[in-house]
Amino acid sequence: MKQALWSGRFKDKMDDSTLDFTSSLDVDSRMAFYDVMGSLAHVNMLKACSILPADDVDSIIKGLKDILREIEDGTFELDFKLEDIHTNIEFSLTERIGPAGGKLHTGRSRNDQVAVDFRMYLRDKALAACTAIEGLITSLLKIAEENPDTIMPGFTHMQHAQPVTLAQHMLAYVFKFTRDTDRFLDAFQRMNKCPLGSAALAGTTYPIDRFMTAQALGFKEPTENSMDSVSDRDFVNELAFCAAQTQLHLSSLCEELVLWSSQEFAFIEMDDKYTTGSSIMPQKKNPDIAELVRGKTGSVVGSLMTMIVLTKGLPLTYNRDLQEDKRPVMDSMDTVIRCLQIMAKVIATTTFKKDRMLEVTSRGQINATDLADYLVTKDIPFREAHAIVGAAVRESIESGVNLEDMPLEKLKTFSDRIESDVYDFIPVSRCAERRESYGGTAPSSTDIQMSKAIEQLMLHEDVIRQETQLIEGCWKDLLE
Ligand code: ARG
Repeated sequence: MKQALWSGRFKDKMDDSTLDFTSSLDVDSRMAFYDVMGSLAHVNMLKACSILPADDVDSIIKGLKDILREIEDGTFELDFKLEDIHTNIEFSLTERIGPAGGKLHTGRSRNDQVAVDFRMYLRDKALAACTAIEGLITSLLKIAEENPDTIMPGFTHMQHAQPVTLAQHMLAYVFKFTRDTDRFLDAFQRMNKCPLGSAALAGTTYPIDRFMTAQALGFKEPTENSMDSVSDRDFVNELAFCAAQTQLHLSSLCEELVLWSSQEFAFIEMDDKYTTGSSIMPQKKNPDIAELVRGKTGSVVGSLMTMIVLTKGLPLTYNRDLQEDKRPVMDSMDTVIRCLQIMAKVIATTTFKKDRMLEVTSRGQINATDLADYLVTKDIPFREAHAIVGAAVRESIESGVNLEDMPLEKLKTFSDRIESDVYDFIPVSRCAERRESYGGTAPSSTDIQMSKAIEQLMLHEDVIRQETQLIEGCWKDLLE
């Protein structure tokens, strides 16, 4: 009969329901790979520091590698009588190699073990999220590149505001998602310190080398304080926020795609491959993916709330509450990555109906600001121009004639400063072209935005590649 790692001080056996209630195996088994890596780095260090004899360490390493092979081909048997993945691996090791297996845990505790495993797990997830964001950005950039002069209405309050280009609209999301990558990479750097060797909470009496294990696991350096190390979950909260913010951006994008594919907007048609039908209404083509992404935002935001509340008021150092940190953030990272990956495909295959967008833009006196700007060029103060155009807009609404279609005599009734050059000023395409201010919607400006976005994309890709190579290099070394 297997006993808990800590059974020595207990007279009575734990009740089955206690085991069932306290077990985290169903969740933390996802960290099995990292647990083995952490143990390999740890025993290598114990050997180098002459804390464990070489032959014991060699057999521990052999046993751990066998276990890893089974984990990777799916044959490693989890024993649900053992409360977590750390215990499962340690028990299995001892079963394979005998008492030497019991030496693995020298100078460490599950408190620092779980902290290091989770950092390694989330470090990879952060990089995977960045790669997924880069995929979506690439899809958005392509639409932007192809549509520097595709005119569409820009909205505020969901009302026609000013004409913009489709490029400008797509680039708005590009920069939002670029910040998301920035945030993930920033959080990555902060979490990239190694808590292993902090032991239960106070460090250890063995002459361990924490710099050595930190380096072997691809961390920048060891964490500075053992009590902070086993209690810190800032890195989890930060990633939960990064995931939530990314998902919020996705949900806005998806909301627009849902609206744009409605009959009322009809700005886009999504590809058949990424839409679904109705079981009763034969004509339906539903934007279910976009709706699901929007819907999944609830749980991703919920995970952030869970983490914030979970960590509120926790005293130092390790408290079992912390075991509840994994499921929410593992789930939210997986969700955001899947959403990003599928949305990259949805965007890449969506057809944008340019004629419809242009036609709709001409409605709603969307060029009213431009008529006011025109009057300003004729030396009328903007406030006064605003009032003059207000009257013209009222006339346009009543007569159903767009501002740019009104005859000059009509326009002159609002201001005698209006000349025939107004017709070069207020057509919707001209409105967009003339917004050349830095960051504006003119093609000359979206060109600059494109280069900036691509520059950032490449920088991010470099960081992702370097960090991935560094981590993979560590795994290779440890498994040599
Ligand atoms: N399974 C625990 C967790 O995920 C780690 C074990 C530490 N347990 C303990 N009683 N100190 O947080």
